[in-house]
Amino acid sequence: PKDLPLQGKKVVVTAGPTRERIDPVRFLTNFSSGKMGYAMAEAAVKLGAQTTLISGPVGIDPPSGVQVVQVESAQDMFEAVIEHFDSASMVIKTAAVADYRPIEIHAQKMKKQSGESTIVLERTTDILAELGNRKTSQLLIGFAAETNDVVHYAKGKLVKKNADYIIANDVTEVGSGFGTDTNAVTLVGKNNIEMHFPYMTKKELALQLLQTIIHLENDVKK
Ligand code: PMT
Repeated sequence: PKDLPLQGKKVVVTAGPTRERIDPVRFLTNFSSGKMGYAMAEAAVKLGAQTTLISGPVGIDPPSGVQVVQVESAQDMFEAVIEHFDSASMVIKTAAVADYRPIEIHAQKMKKQSGESTIVLERTTDILAELGNRKTSQLLIGFAAETNDVVHYAKGKLVKKNADYIIANDVTEVGSGFGTDTNAVTLVGKNNIEMHFPYMTKKELALQLLQTIIHLENDVKK
């Protein structure tokens, strides 16, 4: 049906931050609240999808009708996404995944020392890039949080990560990005697609983004 264009399709959404442990009481993370990703999952349900929400630690309730998979680290998120990838029609990567994690997780709480201290970091797996390598028929949608040259970097990520669309988020704009209930973004995609979505609630934006992408994909297939 026209109002349920995702009926019979499985959509996987990632949301929230990851936590990268330093020791039993400390971790590295970022300011993602999960609001944008949860709104994407809610929109997918509204459009009829069977929706799996893979979420880092957040303080908000999941929308009803989604299957929630709770994860902590970038590695946990990677494993959960891979598990659900083959059966998915669409993967939306809203999560703010850590790019680095401590090389060593200390088994005991680290003690104060005099002078400077260093935590050595190593790269995490780039989940989106890995999905870009593995994708067969899945539509791959990433987000990009940037503080400058937002659209330029988003176009770079589109190609580099073999994604179908990147939703570029200028996180320096007021009422936009991390933690807010509102957002403003630019959708970039193959065939030089570049569409700006002005400031609105994340819930409204999520629905508009999904509807637009579905519309663009139908045009491609015609
Ligand atoms: O959660 P909120 O408070 O509502 O905030 C929403 C948001 C700002 C987090 C969201 O709109 C957003 O922009 N999410 C992506 C943030 C981000 O980490 O962007 P990035 O440019 O670092 O990563 C680009 C893409 O690669 C993203 O789809 C990310 O999920 C993915 N990635 C990044 C690193 C990694 N190791 N694996 C990944 O899959």
